[in-house]
Amino acid sequence: YESLSVGELANKLGREPSEIIKKLFMLGVMATINQELDKDAIELICADYGVEVEEEIRIDVTDLEIYFEEDEVVEETQTERPPVVTIMGHVDHGKTTLLDSIRDTKVTQGEAGGITQHIGAYQVEVEGKKITFLDTPGHAAFTTMRARGAKVTDITILVVAADDGVMPQTIEAINHAKAAEVPIIVAVNKMDKPSANPDRVMQELTEHGLLAEAWGGDTIFVPISALKGEGINQLLEMVLLVAEVGELKASKNIRARGTVIEAQLDRGRGSVATLLVQDGTLRIGDPIVVGNTFGKVRAMINDLGRRVKEAGPSTPVEITGLSDVPQAGDRFVVFEDEKTARQIGESRAGEALQEQRVEKTRVTLDNLFEQM
Ligand code: GTP
Ligand code: MG
Repeated sequence: YESLSVGELANKLGREPSEIIKKLFMLGVMATINQELDKDAIELICADYGVEVEEEIRIDVTDLEIYFEEDEVVEETQTERPPVVTIMGHVDHGKTTLLDSIRDTKVTQGEAGGITQHIGAYQVEVEGKKITFLDTPGHAAFTTMRARGAKVTDITILVVAADDGVMPQTIEAINHAKAAEVPIIVAVNKMDKPSANPDRVMQELTEHGLLAEAWGGDTIFVPISALKGEGINQLLEMVLLVAEVGELKASKNIRARGTVIEAQLDRGRGSVATLLVQDGTLRIGDPIVVGNTFGKVRAMINDLGRRVKEAGPSTPVEITGLSDVPQAGDRFVVFEDEKTARQIGESRAGEALQEQRVEKTRVTLDNLFEQM
């Protein structure tokens, strides 16, 4: 470790922070729980407890990010994966209508009798290729997930109502997508309205760096009517085109990793989480660490409400079997054995609790100062 706070070290050693602070004091170091300790101090304390630092590093790496980026991904094993798409746009410009329209035309028809389940994401098939749509509100998907360092979206569809034009949240959406370096496809919606003025939308968007292909730029604009289901196929074809340019790849044959789309506590089933598998294949029985919780995948349900045994890259799937409820944007990683998953999961939960406590202490201190 380059550095570690007193609290983190205490947690790793399974000791109370106060005990560590006392020890540091005896060593002539005045420290608080949040104080970062250097390598020497960490080694001194560890030596005091008879703990080998090297060993600790191996066991106690609780940063899921490390596993997430673990370099077991061999180029040759990578194959094309479906794009993951979010829909963004100003209030009332037709995001929900578009999501429903895509789902209605592409899911229920093909899967006669299949009941679409609300799991926060769904997949459609166009020309034999799959596309995954996140149906969490686009802004939330970007802000909460990005705040947690998760990148889940490959392409964003920016919905702009042709009768209303560019609005504040349209611009906000563009900024989010740009910051995340996610390509934008513009869906000019409500084309069925007599007052629709697509040229105005194109004009207004040039001011925000989105120049239409028709005007010599490289932004794809597709006129649609989400309400009447018009232009949906062209829009989906454009999604596939942009996905192809992006050369999205993943390996099917490694242990799964990905991000939590949504999660809640279900009375009958316990902790229920929708996961987006981003790499590898998730299977029933897999030992898994999800955010600050862990477990074993007990059951998996796909977006059609069907039980499945495995889920490959870019597939959204709802799982049960976790010991606690994770949060949207949390990462998940599958481990080889249950013991490791449990160890890391519990360790992460401990750290989270610690942080909460520190946070609480801070708040009460702040309150104290306010009163003074
Ligand atoms: P928020 O979730 O509130 O931000 O809105 P939204 O972007 O999800 O918009 P929503 O899909 O709820 O649509 C808003 C209104 O516009 C609804 O009354 C829709 O029926 C209507 N609408 C959506 N798409 C179209 C369209 O293509 N044509 C027409 N005429 N109306 C549409
Ligand atoms: Mg909506």
